[in-house]
Amino acid sequence: MSRNALTLVFPAAVCLLVCSLVVLFLTATGLEPGPLLAAAPQSTSEGGPIDSVQLGRQVGQSDSAQLARLNLSPEDLAAVEAGDGLFKGNCAQCHAVNDVVVGPALAGIDKRRPTPWIVKWVQNSSKLVASGDEYAVKLFNQYQKQQMPSFTNLTEAEINQILQYVRSRQDLGNDVAVN
Ligand code: HEC
Repeated sequence: MSRNALTLVFPAAVCLLVCSLVVLFLTATGLEPGPLLAAAPQSTSEGGPIDSVQLGRQVGQSDSAQLARLNLSPEDLAAVEAGDGLFKGNCAQCHAVNDVVVGPALAGIDKRRPTPWIVKWVQNSSKLVASGDEYAVKLFNQYQKQQMPSFTNLTEAEINQILQYVRSRQDLGNDVAVN
């Protein structure tokens, strides 16, 4: 093969290899390469039961399209959206719903702790740790005694909106927000 032909064939071969690796990777991780190449498919069974695993896979869908699948009442939807804003503005630098970031993944927090505890914690976690609260002390030590900031400005109602946002995200099984 002449040198000229090689300079053409080699980059083409590399491109082909990279493309097949990407498709392989997407298939292996359960993501459909489809939505990336074409528009996200909207073919979902209307009104069917919510399957959170299935929902979590709809990563090609926009945030609002995913939320619509939870069939929330207008009030709950408004709370989730308010909570979304509060979470992004105050918590997202250290927390995700389904992944550990600087602090723990918040999915299931309302099963681990009662709401009044969560409100106290968010408003002033160090006070709770200092009071000797067993769970708080253990968690604080587990996270290398890293102190979470106090959000004294957040009201109980706002913290509840954050919790509703967390619940919606744990039900969807992902943290995607692609509005
Ligand atoms: C600067 C980082 C940071 C920010 C910002 C932050 N947190 Fe935290 N959070 C942590 C850390 C670290 C922990 C683990 C406990 C500790 O070290 O004090 C934690 C623990 C928690 C816990 C207990 C989790 C569990 O599994 O028991 C909750 C609930 C929580 N945070 C909610 C929030 C909320 C809600 C916000 C926003 C209003 C927020 N955090 C903002 C760092 C942060």
